[in-house]
Amino acid sequence: MSAKNATITVGNKNVDLPMYDGTVGPTVIDIGKLLAQTGMFTFDPGFLSTASCESKITYIDGDEGILLHRGYPIEQLAEHGDYLETCYLLLYGELPTKTQKADFDYRITRHTMIHEQMAQFYRGFRRDAHPMAVVVGCVGALSAFYHDSTDINDPHQRMVASMRLIAKMPTIAAMAYKYNIGQPFVYPKNDLDYAANFLRMCFAVPCEEYKVNPVLARALDRIFILHADHEQNASTSTVRLAGSTGANPFACIAAGVAALWGPAHGGANEICLRMLMEIGTPDRIPHFIARAKDKNDPFRLMGFGHRVYKNFDPRAKIMQKTCHEVLAELGIKDDPLLDVAMELERIALHDEYFIERKLYPNVDFYSGITLKAMGFPTTMFTVLFAAARTVGWIAQWKEMIEDPNQKIGRPRQLYTGQTSRDYAPIGKR
Ligand code: SDX
Repeated sequence: MSAKNATITVGNKNVDLPMYDGTVGPTVIDIGKLLAQTGMFTFDPGFLSTASCESKITYIDGDEGILLHRGYPIEQLAEHGDYLETCYLLLYGELPTKTQKADFDYRITRHTMIHEQMAQFYRGFRRDAHPMAVVVGCVGALSAFYHDSTDINDPHQRMVASMRLIAKMPTIAAMAYKYNIGQPFVYPKNDLDYAANFLRMCFAVPCEEYKVNPVLARALDRIFILHADHEQNASTSTVRLAGSTGANPFACIAAGVAALWGPAHGGANEICLRMLMEIGTPDRIPHFIARAKDKNDPFRLMGFGHRVYKNFDPRAKIMQKTCHEVLAELGIKDDPLLDVAMELERIALHDEYFIERKLYPNVDFYSGITLKAMGFPTTMFTVLFAAARTVGWIAQWKEMIEDPNQKIGRPRQLYTGQTSRDYAPIGKR
């Protein structure tokens, strides 16, 4: 990081604050000494202008619609690689050699089973519990079953916990689905790759052989790649903050799953599909566009807009292509939801309100249509997002833990509450 200074004037005092350039992207002003030098805090609710950490994992250029993982464009990773290759890249910083990839695949594949006792854990939930509620609980419970990989100061245990989480998330997710629909759990099979294994664990039944559709497996693997990591988004920031306290990795990832569930974040894919179903037909789009623009109406066009992208989300373009591939493979000629989505996108991208605010489709806009066509219920959409994002959370958590300058995250506040006052006995209030 190259050092230069920013000078700010606070009252009659000039304060020099160091500035650092990244390899690409905005320069930062280090305000670490601002309180000591001025007695003041900065104030940035929602962190619109705040870099919370230094990272080498993922870079987003929101204006250009660019997403790089360790420097590789998402388009190239999605086109040429597979999800476990992207996992390796995010974790270790380089694309694996053939030997490294084979070893990584082998290790992940042989960690996909969960402790048999965990199956009992599922049975404590109501059958109609939202799968995300089950997954949050089960991921948090992993620290009760895998206590031998909770010491965050032991690099070996950190690696084991990372492998376990990446390997077991699809199994946990599939079991949440099976439990929800009242079907028996399906064990992973070591002769299937990551996405194919997940499809089989979700859709196989004991009564007959399940044949994985390779086109759908490839599409799902690509969807996992698109969701793998995304810089310091809300759930990743949650994982980093939880990790900064020294909490074990399973607890930190459970916190990430919980944060992802929100409709403004990973929960948007489920809500977006429900919105498309509510719109129903293209002729009803203008009514919903008007609602999205109405300041008095809390309705937002789900799957649209992004804190960072002020251009197309590159993942949305790949997701749209994947959506068409999946529908074609399944022989779904005219999916009314896709018709509504494409017409909604066309109208919104020509509407001044959306143009002015640079609101474009994001990764969640087409994912729901694709996943629904593949047979997943809407309640499983965010669960799939969480399974795919686990590697990003882990890679960011690992980077934070290995940062020698890491300290517990503890923001301050602008206090506008009551100043000190004396207790009044209840008879005198
Ligand atoms: C994900 O951070 C990440 O990287 C997230 C993610 C990842 O991979 O981790 O990319 C995954 O979460 C994608 C986003 C999924 N969420 C949705 O699709 C929900 C709908 N989108 C919005 O809620 C919103 O766009 C956010 C939450 C995504 C971003 O909100 P911001 O950056 O805080 O923007 P804002 O709320 O300040 O909006 C700016 C303006 C406002 O209008 P004005 O007050 O200026 O008049 O744009 C409007 C907003 O009302 N606006 C929308 C809108 N999104 C923003 N208006 C209608 N519909 C929308 N979707």
